[in-house]
Amino acid sequence: EMNYIIAPSILSADFGNLQRDIEMINQSEADWFHVDVMDGVFVPNISFGFPIMAAVKKHAKKTLDVHLMIVEPDKYIEAFAKAGADRITVHYEACTHLHRTIENIKANGCKAGVALNPHTPVTLLQDVIEDLDLVLIMSVNPGFGGQQFIHNTYKKIRDLKAMIQGRNEDLAIEVDGGVGLQNIATLVSAGANAFVAGNAIFAAENPTDMISKMKSITTSAIQ
Ligand code: DX5
Ligand code: ZN
Repeated sequence: EMNYIIAPSILSADFGNLQRDIEMINQSEADWFHVDVMDGVFVPNISFGFPIMAAVKKHAKKTLDVHLMIVEPDKYIEAFAKAGADRITVHYEACTHLHRTIENIKANGCKAGVALNPHTPVTLLQDVIEDLDLVLIMSVNPGFGGQQFIHNTYKKIRDLKAMIQGRNEDLAIEVDGGVGLQNIATLVSAGANAFVAGNAIFAAENPTDMISKMKSITTSAIQ
């Protein structure tokens, strides 16, 4: 049976109380920590790098799902693996030699993912789809939390779901940006199985409760 993943994005955590927010996720029904690294070049924002990664690694008791929104990710894959990443996702748009980058991630002992910006069609992954553990469909333009979900995402998820039939059915189809209670059931129906949420969780009155609500919708949604 399908195992649905809830991945709170620590980008929306309170960095003055990071340990508290990490412990909240540890105690919750969340599955992964989603770690958004932004370089100010690939995306128009800078988030954080290795010192915050180290703090997250020190306290987090769940999978670290690292989303690299950076140019030349190959330069840093080994360092992120050593810093405790379990899964590393690079952007299609940032990789000239994507196959080599995927091999590099796996050679460093991590699960390999590729992220697609809203304008990048899933068909561009045809020739690497069997090599991947995860595809991250961006449902906002990367760079900031709290943005509006882009509706065309549903079609992209369905296209990807069709592409993996008989080829890589264990692939994690992760959706990132503007995900919340209002769209998670529809995303499940489209074929997504991993859900990143920043604002929906950390702006909620009760984040732990929001995580359980999201988790229970995924497990009860009609597929
Ligand atoms: C956006 C990041 C997302 C972001 C999601 O560039 O990749 O992971 O934190 O935040 P929300 O859920 O607030 O859209
Ligand atoms: Zn992300």
